[in-house]
Amino acid sequence: MKVRYLGHSAFRIETGNEVILIDPFLAPNKDYNFKDDNISHILVTHAHSDHLGSAIEISKIKGATIVGVFELANYCAQRGAKAIGVNLGGWVKLSFGRVYFAPAFHSSSFADGTYAGCPAGILADIEGKRVFHAGDSALTQEYKTLKELNEIELAMLPIGGFYTMGVAEAIVATRWLEAKKVIPMHYNTFDLIKADVETFKEGVKKEGATPLVLTYNEEIEI
Ligand code: NI
Ligand code: MN
Repeated sequence: MKVRYLGHSAFRIETGNEVILIDPFLAPNKDYNFKDDNISHILVTHAHSDHLGSAIEISKIKGATIVGVFELANYCAQRGAKAIGVNLGGWVKLSFGRVYFAPAFHSSSFADGTYAGCPAGILADIEGKRVFHAGDSALTQEYKTLKELNEIELAMLPIGGFYTMGVAEAIVATRWLEAKKVIPMHYNTFDLIKADVETFKEGVKKEGATPLVLTYNEEIEI
């Protein structure tokens, strides 16, 4: 599969003929236009605007299916999006593989204040490999349980601090998840979440994992 960083916590995964977006907050990225892309699914960790992003618009224009926690999915469906409502702890089969919404320690509401259910991290099994996107979570011991389910090939972890875990916590998360490769996210988008990515890289290497620091629109194959 191809994994492309779209900036902040947004990713584009391509597998076979399908394109999956995660947390499509696309405003900071001037070089990616979803209208030119063939998106089938949009995975959303929680409803904050820097994660829900353009999900509803993308669903309406491209016919892509939003997958999110029940309350989040219902809100999107009421606004004309295609959405599947899920909840924590169950595998959900989709055309490209399967997803599992995992606990995240954070909050979740829409910009208008509407309750959006609980926030989540997302495990996705694609092409026999497991990918984990932590959303906006704090460091949580839940990560020790996730690795019991299966080996994690790639983890996307926030490192910006203030609203989420920071560099030191993300290094511990790498250890607890036993992730083989780690992409830092949710940093340097604005001043409050500035992070030292070099310290993160060194720490992740000490844990025996490979840090992958991607620039906007950079793509890797895993
Ligand atoms: Ni958030
Ligand atoms: Mn956020």
